[in-house]
Amino acid sequence: MRRFFTLSGASFLMIPSIALAEKVSDPARSWDNHFSLYFWIAVVFWLFVTVLLVYFSFRYKRKKGMGDGAYIEGNLLLELIWTIVPLVIVLLLGVQTWAVYKEYRAVPKDVYEVNIEGFMWGWNVTYPEGIKTTNELRVPVGQPVKVNLTSKDVLHAFFIPEYRVQEEAIPGRTTYFWFRPSRPGETRAYCTEFCGNGHSLMLAKVIAMEKEEFNSWLRKHGEEMVLLTPVEKGKKLFVDLGCLGCHSITGEKSSGPSLKGIYGKERHLSDGRVVKADEEYLEHSLETPNWDVVKGYTPIMPPYKLSTDDEHAIVEYLKTL
Ligand code: CUA
Repeated sequence: MRRFFTLSGASFLMIPSIALAEKVSDPARSWDNHFSLYFWIAVVFWLFVTVLLVYFSFRYKRKKGMGDGAYIEGNLLLELIWTIVPLVIVLLLGVQTWAVYKEYRAVPKDVYEVNIEGFMWGWNVTYPEGIKTTNELRVPVGQPVKVNLTSKDVLHAFFIPEYRVQEEAIPGRTTYFWFRPSRPGETRAYCTEFCGNGHSLMLAKVIAMEKEEFNSWLRKHGEEMVLLTPVEKGKKLFVDLGCLGCHSITGEKSSGPSLKGIYGKERHLSDGRVVKADEEYLEHSLETPNWDVVKGYTPIMPPYKLSTDDEHAIVEYLKTL
C-alpha cells in the first residue's frame, strides 16, 4: 500500500502541504478551504501593510531643512473604513468557522463506527464486528467513519493530521470525531496531549482499504485471533501494547529491565526483597507494576487491566524468552 502524503513539521510549514494535500475526507476539504481563507486574508493584509511601510519610509524620509509635519486631528472617512472593513471580515470568518465546526460535529447517518481507547501508551481499537486491534485503525474507503474516543487512564488526544481530525481522549467520558476516507492509503495518528514517559510512542497506523478488501481483512483477522496459541497471542499483545518501548527481550537495559530469561529468575527489588519471577509474580507485575519494582529502576510502568486470557497469554510468552 502506498503512502499518499507526507507530513511537514511546524504548523507554518504546513501551508504548502495543506495547499497541495489531496483531500481525503469531507471535513478535511472544509478545513483546508477554511485555512486557505484565513491564510490569504493574512497575506493580503501583510502585503498591504509591508508595501506601504517600505514606500512611506522612503517617500516621507525626513530631509535637511524640513520643518514639522502637518498636525492632523482625525479623518472620519478613514476611521470608518478601518473600523468597518475589519468588522465585516471578522464577522464573515466567525460565520464560516461556525459552519466548519457544525460540519465536524454533524455525523452522517451511514457511518462505520469504531471505538478507540487510549492508554499509557497506546490505542486499543474495537470494531463493531467484535474484533480488536492495537495501534492500528483500519477503515473502509468511501464510507464515513465515526470514532468514539475515551481513555483508560490519563488525558490523551487522537490526531490524524492527514484527515484533519483531532479529539481529546478523556477518562470516564466519550468524545467523537468523524472523517471520510476517499481512497486507500496509509497514514499515521499521533497522541497530542503530553501523557508521560511514552507519549512520543503513542502512534497508530491509519489504514484506509477498499470496502471488499476491508471486509475480508475483518474476517481473516477475526479468525486469526481465535486460532492463535497463547504464546503467539502473548507475543502479539507484547508488541502491540508497546512493551518493547521499555523492556528489551535481548538482555539490554532500557527504562525497564530486560525480560530475557525472566521466568524463574530471582528478582532483587528496590525495597530489598528478593522474589522469584514465577507466574504469580509476572501476573502481579502486569496488574500492579509498582509493587515490585526491580532494584535500579523507577516505578514508571502503568498498570495494565487486561482480560484473564490476555494476561495469561503474555505470561506464557514471557516464559519463552
Ligand atoms: Cu497519550 Cu500523549
